[in-house]
Parts: sequence; structure tokens; C-alpha cells
Amino acid sequence: MTDRPEPTHGQSEPSPWVLRFSGHIPAGGEVIDIACGAGRHGRLCLENGHPVTFVDIDTERLDDLGGRSDVAIIETDLETEGFWPFAGHAYDGVIVTNYLWRPILPKIIDLVAPGGLLIYETFAAGNEAFGKPSNPDYLLQPDELREAVDGTLEVLAFEQVETKTPKPAVIQHIAARNTQTG
Ligand SMILES: C[S@@+](CC[C@H](N)C(=O)[O-])C[C@H]1O[C@@H](n2cnc3c(N)ncnc32)[C@H](O)[C@@H]1O
Repeated sequence: MTDRPEPTHGQSEPSPWVLRFSGHIPAGGEVIDIACGAGRHGRLCLENGHPVTFVDIDTERLDDLGGRSDVAIIETDLETEGFWPFAGHAYDGVIVTNYLWRPILPKIIDLVAPGGLLIYETFAAGNEAFGKPSNPDYLLQPDELREAVDGTLEVLAFEQVETKTPKPAVIQHIAARNTQTG
């Protein structure tokens, strides 16, 4: 976790990017919030009427959601080589923010169900000028998300931007649809 953003990164409100695109997830469809932290985006989707699977290596901050029929909580180390607990699963909304582990990026993209939406936002190269994360392993390269979905998902929106809030940072984000029909 060294050099990674803090678990909450001081953010409890949903990211504007996720707010903007979460309404494009098929109504009532299943959502997965990967490396969810306290689950700010999964919680938003619960409010929007989606069942949500929350995934993180540390799920303590989700204790208040235990027992809900529309919630699944999976505590797992996503970086265990050769282990992927979601094989054969697909979700109508796949959300990842402030997290990157390149080896599983193609598997995350494969989780998007026909008609479903990927919403991904995290730090990008250039962020090292502002602080952590600065390790290239945790920073997207220019166009990396767009290239990662090329041939699989249709890009609705993509940007790499320098932002000032909640703190100066370079981020890249994408919203992309699986245009296959079920
Ligand atoms: C910066 S936080 C982002 C949390 C949330 N996505 C958000 O934006 O509010 C990164 C999250 O990744 C989780 N994480 C880090 N390494 C992980 C791993 N190997 N497997 C699963 N989750 C991991 C951390 O526990 C932390 O909650």
C-alpha cells in the first residue's frame, strides 16, 4: 500500500465523474464497486436502486451495510496472482475509483455485462508532481483506459485532466458501454 492514496483519500462524497455516469447504468442492474473503500460509490448506487457487490481487502468500513438483501460484501486481496473470484460473473455497472492494479484491468473490463457500463477513474502520470501516488505502477499512462477498452467497450466519455479538488492531482477517467446485446 506504500505510495498508494489513503484509503478514503479524504473523500466521502461521490466523485463528480461517477455522479455524472451512474445514472447511465441500466435501471435496477447489478453493480460492483471494486476496491470500494468505505463504498461511497456503491452506496450511491444503492440509493439509486441497484443491488451492489462491494469488494475490498478491508471491508470494516462497510459493517453498517451487513445483512441487507441488496448488498454483497467480498473481502479479498485483488492482487493475489492467479486468483480472480469473479470468473463467470458480469455486472451492469462496474465502478473503480482511486485504485489501479494493472494485471487485473482486462479482467475488470470483462466484468461489464452486455448493455452494462464501466466507470473508472484514477490517478495518472503527472500526478507525481503533486504527491502520492507517484509510483508509475499506480498511475495510468496517457490514453491507457481508452486503449484498454478498445475493441471491447464503446467509449461514452474519456478525459485526462489536472484537477484542483479535492486536492491537486492528475486523473484519468472513462465511462464505457458494452454494446453487445444479452
Ligand atoms: C484510495 S482507496 C479508494 C477507495 C474508493 N474506491 C474510493 O474512491 O473512495 C483504495 C482502496 O483499495 C483497496 N485496496 C488496496 N489494495 C487492495 C487489494 N490488494 N485488494 C483489494 N483492495 C485493495 C484499499 O483497501 C482501499 O480501500
